[in-house]
Amino acid sequence: MNRANCDKKEEMEKKLIIAIDGYSSCGKSSFARAIASELNYIYIDSGAMYRAVTLYSIRKGYTGNGDQKTGSIIEDLPTIHISFIYNPDIGSYETYLNSENVEDEIRSIEVSSHVSRISQIHEVRARMVELQRQIGVYKGIVMDGRDIGTVVFPDADLKIFMTASVDIRAKRRYDELRGKNIDVDLEEVRMNIISRDIADENRDISPLRRADDALVLDNSRMTVDQQMEWVMKIIRQKINEDRN
Ligand code: DC
Repeated sequence: MNRANCDKKEEMEKKLIIAIDGYSSCGKSSFARAIASELNYIYIDSGAMYRAVTLYSIRKGYTGNGDQKTGSIIEDLPTIHISFIYNPDIGSYETYLNSENVEDEIRSIEVSSHVSRISQIHEVRARMVELQRQIGVYKGIVMDGRDIGTVVFPDADLKIFMTASVDIRAKRRYDELRGKNIDVDLEEVRMNIISRDIADENRDISPLRRADDALVLDNSRMTVDQQMEWVMKIIRQKINEDRN
């Protein structure tokens, strides 16, 4: 085994919980997924869970352009099953809602427009946090979201808070959606990001905020490789510190 493999194996032996929070469309998911793949950890996209509940609610007519039927959403929570299944063909996890692969559908602009309201429901958050903690029980996990370092795993081994300028985030999300042949307008995406920032930062329960012990990563002008180099150095230091 060469040194690089050896380092990787040792990293795998000391299992960490890595929490990645931050604004929407900062590249949290890609970054978290890349870290998980490098360390051979499980990656969980907590936003996908809120999106899956939103998709369920839209389909049932509980949310949409009219009044939201919050009581019905809460009532149905025990029957909403969300899971993540690894797809070896694409090398990543996909989101399932009651056994249906909804990975693409939960990224639609319609779901994006309603997810903030759904994620403000106390009972929805309580259920999602419970599920997220169950998934993290064996460590060796990278989870991204808004409240992972503050609420879900306040004792996480490493917390990163990601940010980037609104224009850069809008362009990234726009490119991502267009890449999936989803027809959107850049300004529409930009407005959606701004309104979600406001909703995320100002909601009563678990508002988006940086945990005191989180490291800030502004990736406005960083490539994915640069971000990986930065984080892997920190992870190696952490593992070495914990070992000594
Ligand atoms: O990361 P994302 O854009 O896919 O998240 C979708 C929505 O879910 C976002 O508007 C805020 C909400 N969310 C949350 O409230 N708490 C989390 N831990 C993750 C996401």
